[in-house]
Amino acid sequence: MVKSTIKLPTNALLDALNSRPKHVFISGASRGIGEATARMLGDKNFNLTLAARSYNRLLGVAMDVGTDKAHAVTMDLADEASIDAAVVAAESRFGPIDVMICNAGMHAETPLSDVTAEGRQRFRRVVDVNLIGTYFLAQLASQHMPSNGRILFIGSTLGRFGAPRTHAYTASKHALLGIARGMAHELSRRNIRVNVVNPGWVDTRMAREAMQQMATASGQSLQQVTAQQIGNQPVRRMIKPIEVAAYLEFLVGPGGDAITGQGIDISGGAVMV
Ligand SMILES: NC(=O)c1ccc[n+]([C@@H]2O[C@H](COP(=O)([O-])OP(=O)(O)OC[C@H]3O[C@@H](n4cnc5c(N)ncnc54)[C@H](OP(=O)(O)O)[C@@H]3O)[C@@H](O)[C@H]2O)c1
Repeated sequence: MVKSTIKLPTNALLDALNSRPKHVFISGASRGIGEATARMLGDKNFNLTLAARSYNRLLGVAMDVGTDKAHAVTMDLADEASIDAAVVAAESRFGPIDVMICNAGMHAETPLSDVTAEGRQRFRRVVDVNLIGTYFLAQLASQHMPSNGRILFIGSTLGRFGAPRTHAYTASKHALLGIARGMAHELSRRNIRVNVVNPGWVDTRMAREAMQQMATASGQSLQQVTAQQIGNQPVRRMIKPIEVAAYLEFLVGPGGDAITGQGIDISGGAVMV
């Protein structure tokens, strides 16, 4: 019998692979919660892929973090080919994705009374971006994800309860928890944890635009709507993007290893379960 001359990876090589900086992919890193997360993780020992549609904004964040450890990738969650290309670009630059933070999302009002073709189109677009494209992104990242990986979806408190005029957004965020729970089961064999983080009102462009739309629809001022929304929760203020980022950093680390299939609320107490 001929003795094989192929050498299996040595422990030293496996150790080297395991000790490389973790590769974190953050969708929607061009502003808001995603940008805050990129800047927070960028200060630590991580390699970052930053993805969204606005390349120039992403590049600005990547340059601040340092282009040796962060790069920008254009991606539109409504465009499957661009999702595929973004994951290929990410893996080509920093290797398999250890942590996928599916943060990108959009909000648009989809009132029950709107039965126009435009209204239906808007409903489909919200679901396409927040749910279908988001799932495809997580699904692709999971294919090569190493052991001890993480998939973190950014849901919403509107994945916990309903609200008027936001049915597509509410449905998409509820659905993320179902997907995360299924993936948590399927990926547990590979030691990968999957969770949804549900923020309440976070001080970003999305929240400001959503509150302005609520004000317009109800004939109230923006100040009135803001006071009403914030007043409904025990922590009577908007949540800061870095507060969500800090929790994501915890889940990425060893503290997140026993947590999977969960919806975790950072809602100022708006959700109590
Ligand atoms: N702010 C809140 O009060 C709040 C509350 C609950 C949940 N959330 C969730 O938190 C996440 C982040 O929101 P945010 O508050 O940080 O909002 P934001 O400031 O509007 O940021 C949204 C991010 O998503 C990206 N994005 C939007 N549409 C996209 C698309 N089609 N393809 C790829 N990227 C896209 C945007 O980048 P480009 O425009 O450059 O593509 C941007 O980076 C979202 O999933 C949102 O639903 C927010």
